[in-house]
Amino acid sequence: MTTNRTFTMLKPDSIEKGNIGAILEKISASGFKIVALKLTRLSKAEAESFYAVHNERPFFGELVEFMTRGAIVAAVLEKENAVEDFRTLIGATNPADAAEGTIRKMFADSMGENAVHGSDSDENAKLEAEFHFSGREMF
Ligand code: CMP
Repeated sequence: MTTNRTFTMLKPDSIEKGNIGAILEKISASGFKIVALKLTRLSKAEAESFYAVHNERPFFGELVEFMTRGAIVAAVLEKENAVEDFRTLIGATNPADAAEGTIRKMFADSMGENAVHGSDSDENAKLEAEFHFSGREMF
């Protein structure tokens, strides 16, 4: 995996609301190429591991419960400056603070149920992509 890639998940709220197509369209229209994609569901152990960095935070239990309550879409995206540009595209963690036109402004309801995840560094993008995809699933 090269540094022009980032990792995203469409969270259970997006799938429940029928927003997979609209969000992927927005991502594609913003210049990101999808190089890996799957509909899957995290186990409790997988969600706890994926979000281990937050395990001391008061919202950790709520976060794991939310992320395991239904299907997610996992994807790897390619674009120049992918990590930073995707964070700009998704907007602030709290949709109330997200800029107009961002994915969280358009599709998210709350800080907890905020529609999408985006990696925060090249290093985490690689780790997170490899958490979800084998080499043969990334193109
Ligand atoms: P994300 O940045 O994708 O990964 C960590 C997630 O924890 C974050 O999205 C939110 O969904 C969630 N989160 C962060 N802060 C809070 C909070 N104060 N209350 C509930 N959930 C939160």
